[in-house]
Amino acid sequence: MHTEQLRIDPADLLQRLQVLGRVGDTGDGGCCRLALTDADRTGRDLVCRWMRELGLRVQVDPVGNIFGWRDGLEDLPPVMTGSHIDTVATGGRYDGNYGVLAGLTVVQALNKAGISTRHPLVVAVFTNEEGVRFQPDMLGSLVYVGGLSLAEAHATRAIDGAVLADELQRIGYLGTAPLPLARPKAFVELHIEQGPVLDAEGGLIGVVHDLQGISWQALSITGQSNHAGTTPMRLRHDAGHCAAAIACFVRRLADEMGGSQVATVGTLTLHPNLINVIARRAELTVDLRNTDEALLQQAEQRLAAFIAELAAAEGVRIGSRPLARFTPVQFDAGVAERIAGQARRLGYDARAMTSGAGHDAQMMARLCPTAMIFVPSVNGISHNPAEHTAPEHLAAGANVLLHTLLELAAR
Ligand code: GLV
Ligand code: MN
Ligand code: MN
Repeated sequence: MHTEQLRIDPADLLQRLQVLGRVGDTGDGGCCRLALTDADRTGRDLVCRWMRELGLRVQVDPVGNIFGWRDGLEDLPPVMTGSHIDTVATGGRYDGNYGVLAGLTVVQALNKAGISTRHPLVVAVFTNEEGVRFQPDMLGSLVYVGGLSLAEAHATRAIDGAVLADELQRIGYLGTAPLPLARPKAFVELHIEQGPVLDAEGGLIGVVHDLQGISWQALSITGQSNHAGTTPMRLRHDAGHCAAAIACFVRRLADEMGGSQVATVGTLTLHPNLINVIARRAELTVDLRNTDEALLQQAEQRLAAFIAELAAAEGVRIGSRPLARFTPVQFDAGVAERIAGQARRLGYDARAMTSGAGHDAQMMARLCPTAMIFVPSVNGISHNPAEHTAPEHLAAGANVLLHTLLELAAR
């Protein structure tokens, strides 16, 4: 068969997605596989078994990143694809998983057709992309590219108190492969869009040119507990009120700034959290993102100024702790061009896009030419059990991945 006619087997891809989706099944169509939990271990074991069945050489590095290596005809830098299989606690079945399993489906198609590539092909599964259990997000790929030391990564504490190195050891994924395993010739990540653009505005394939900068911080507000009925409003030091004021402020800030600026207070805990007690303490997180670094810094500065004023006005202390900070990333124009070219050759409508979500590709871009392929998310819903992508769109994205990898790895 001529390689131009080669296509992935959609049934193979859908079946793998379904089987992996059962690991950590939340019973409502979603998945909970927080990084380095027992469910993550079960998912990892399954993917490693599939890799071996496909003839890939499985290697695990000391931060738990998994690599399935397919030799090339020559001893050259590999072309790498992949993503993550950890999920948020209320995750869907596609975020991350799709990119990894599409990589396996590509290998399956090449094996079946007896096609060898000049460069090796590698399918990667990066540790803790979501950043829900351990911060920062994209931790495995960040360590891979040298952006965080292994010692710091190993010492990272989970929100449940566990230490990352202990959890790697416990689930059997504290590997010994070199870090980094290789500097790839190129990295291509296939992912669902997780936003509304392709679904609402049409276009089947997104060619991702850039990715937003991300700023995460934890805020801790200390006020004073008192009786909700007897304490006059002017005498309160209400941590709950201050947390709410910050949540409202970041929303206003994003609305005012417009453009790509987004802002989210995703976690909020009050202490003692009782109906008739003014909150003594509040813990919350703020997620700010913008494609423009200067504007992201402006948003951070305006939030810091608001917090200082609020603390003074309300007589509370507000401490802040950075959890993640990544500048916006510009992907490689050459790799993006190849993705667009292959998408068009396959007859798919392709459009240039920005990624609002964080991805391992944004770390890999520091190490090698990198770009991403997006497929539509129905109603733009993600980080939600309702996350869905039509089977034919999943197959189309995987075919674009197949041919982009083939072109990059050259026969
Ligand atoms: C990861 O999914 C993120 O963008 O937060
Ligand atoms: Mn993802
Ligand atoms: Mn995600």
